[in-house]
Amino acid sequence: MGDDNLEAEVAQSNEDRRGIVGRDIPHIDAAKDRRQSFRAIKKIAERYIETYMSKNTPLTLPAVKAKLLEGKRGLIVGIANENSIAWGCAKAFRAFGAEVAVTYLNDKAKKYVEPLARAIEAPIVLPLDVNTPGQMEAVFERIAKEWGKLDFVVHSIAFSPKDALQGRVVDVSREGFAKTMDVSCWTFIRMAHLAEPLMRKGGSLFTMSYYGSQMVVKNYNIMGVAKAALECAVRYLAAELGPKGIRVHAISPGPLATRAASGIPEFDALLDKAKAKAPAGSLVSIDDVGVATAFLAHDAARLITGETLYVDGGYHIMD
Ligand SMILES: NC(=O)c1ccc[n+]([C@@H]2O[C@H](COP(=O)([O-])OP(=O)(O)OC[C@H]3O[C@@H](n4cnc5c(N)ncnc54)[C@H](O)[C@@H]3O)[C@@H](O)[C@H]2O)c1
Repeated sequence: MGDDNLEAEVAQSNEDRRGIVGRDIPHIDAAKDRRQSFRAIKKIAERYIETYMSKNTPLTLPAVKAKLLEGKRGLIVGIANENSIAWGCAKAFRAFGAEVAVTYLNDKAKKYVEPLARAIEAPIVLPLDVNTPGQMEAVFERIAKEWGKLDFVVHSIAFSPKDALQGRVVDVSREGFAKTMDVSCWTFIRMAHLAEPLMRKGGSLFTMSYYGSQMVVKNYNIMGVAKAALECAVRYLAAELGPKGIRVHAISPGPLATRAASGIPEFDALLDKAKAKAPAGSLVSIDDVGVATAFLAHDAARLITGETLYVDGGYHIMD
C-alpha cells in the first residue's frame, strides 16, 4: 500500500469464518467466493492502514507523557482484543498513570486478553460474563479486598441476539428485547450500584453508547433502543450519585471496526458515510475514544457529569 507493507494475519474466528483485525470474512471453498473473500480482506487491510497507520493521523498515545491520573485505580470491562474500544480506554488510562483492572469474557477470550493485560501491567485480571450469576459481584469484591477503593469504571459491553439485532424493532421478541437490554443497559446500572460503596471519595463511571440512540441508523435496530435507555440511565445515575462526587457519562464514538461491529450488516457503508460526513473528515480510533474518556476521569472535569460525549469527528452535528 504505497510505501507500506502490511503483513496480515488471517485467523480462524469460528468454525466457518475467517477474521482479520476483528472483522469476519466469509470462508468458502469455491474459487469465485475465495476471490470475493480476498477482496474483502484487502478492503479491510486498506481501511486499517488508513485509520491506524496513516502518517497524517499518528496515534495520540505515545505522545501522552503526563501522569494526570496517577494514584487512580479503575476497572475496565469489555476488552475482547486489541481492536476493542475498552482496550483503547485501558491504554489511555494507563498512559495517564492510572492502575487498571481488566476482565475477560471466558476461557476462550482469556488468551487474547491476558497479553494485553500484561502490557498495561494490570494487577487484577478476572473472568466476567455478566450472564453468569455472581461474577459481577465477585469482581467488585476482589477489588474491594485488594484496593479498598475504586476511582473509575469503564463499561464497554453490549450484546443482542442475532435475530433481535438484525430484525426490525417492530418484530423483536420479548426474549430478544430482554437480553439486549439486560446485557447492554442493566449491567451498567448494576456496576454503578456495586461501585458506589467503593467510591467513597468520588469517582467516575463510563459506558459506551452510539448515535443510533438518537437517530434511526440503518441496521442498528434494537440496539438503538437499548442505547437510548443507557443514555437515560446515565442521567439518572449522575443525578443520584452526584452528591457523592461520583460522575457518570456515556461516550458516543463514531463507528469503529471491532468484533461487536461485525454483527451489524453493511457496517462498511456506515464507516464510509461517517468519514464522508464528519467535519473532521476522518474515522475515529480507539485511542481517540480512550483519551477522551480518560480526560473525563480527571479531577479537572469534576463539574462535568451526565453527559453523552460524542467522539465522532463532529458527525452528529451535521444534517
Ligand atoms: N464499534 C463501534 O462502532 C461502536 C460505536 C459506538 C459504541 N460502541 C459500543 O462500544 C462498546 C464496546 O464494543 P466494541 O465495539 O469495542 O466491540 P468489542 O467486541 O471489542 O467489545 C464488546 C465487548 O462486550 C463483551 N461482552 C459481550 N457480552 C458479554 C457478557 N455477557 N459479559 C461480559 N462481556 C460481554 C465482549 O466480550 C467484548 O469484550 C459496546 O457497548 C458497543 O455497543 C461501539
